[in-house]
Amino acid sequence: MIHVHVYEKWWIGLTVAMLIAFSLAIGVSGFMMGIQLPSPEALVNPNTVAKQGDFANPGLKELAPKKYVAYIRAEANPWKFRPEKIEVPVGSTVTFYVTAVDVQHGFKLEGTNINVQILPGQVSKMTATFNQKGEFPFVCTEFCGVGHQNMFGKLIVK
Ligand code: CUA
Repeated sequence: MIHVHVYEKWWIGLTVAMLIAFSLAIGVSGFMMGIQLPSPEALVNPNTVAKQGDFANPGLKELAPKKYVAYIRAEANPWKFRPEKIEVPVGSTVTFYVTAVDVQHGFKLEGTNINVQILPGQVSKMTATFNQKGEFPFVCTEFCGVGHQNMFGKLIVK
């Protein structure tokens, strides 16, 4: 019979207790509270998304007064978001649909909680309301190539 030191037994016990506690936390949050990883809003063909559909001519579309959707296409070489500039009146609610045509990009909109990965073939959807005038820069947050630092744009609320 191996001799296990009493401190070692405590550590083993503590480790097992933590594993049980964390497993319970994941189970409760996932299955009882419904906290799940975000799933893509839609799937698109990255080879044709720039040629047809809403992302072929990306930009802002007005649904109703102060209610907009913004289709944004991220691409490398040249590294940019299309469009690079969006303007909405103050008090607007904007739903963003963002996709990539080539590699993984990111989309972070300063001053909001919007910060998502943008994957080719998938559409990410986020909504924010802008009650203050100002400029909200958006940047790519995933290193996507040598032109990564050139991927930015801005939303202007006026
Ligand atoms: Cu796109 Cu970094």
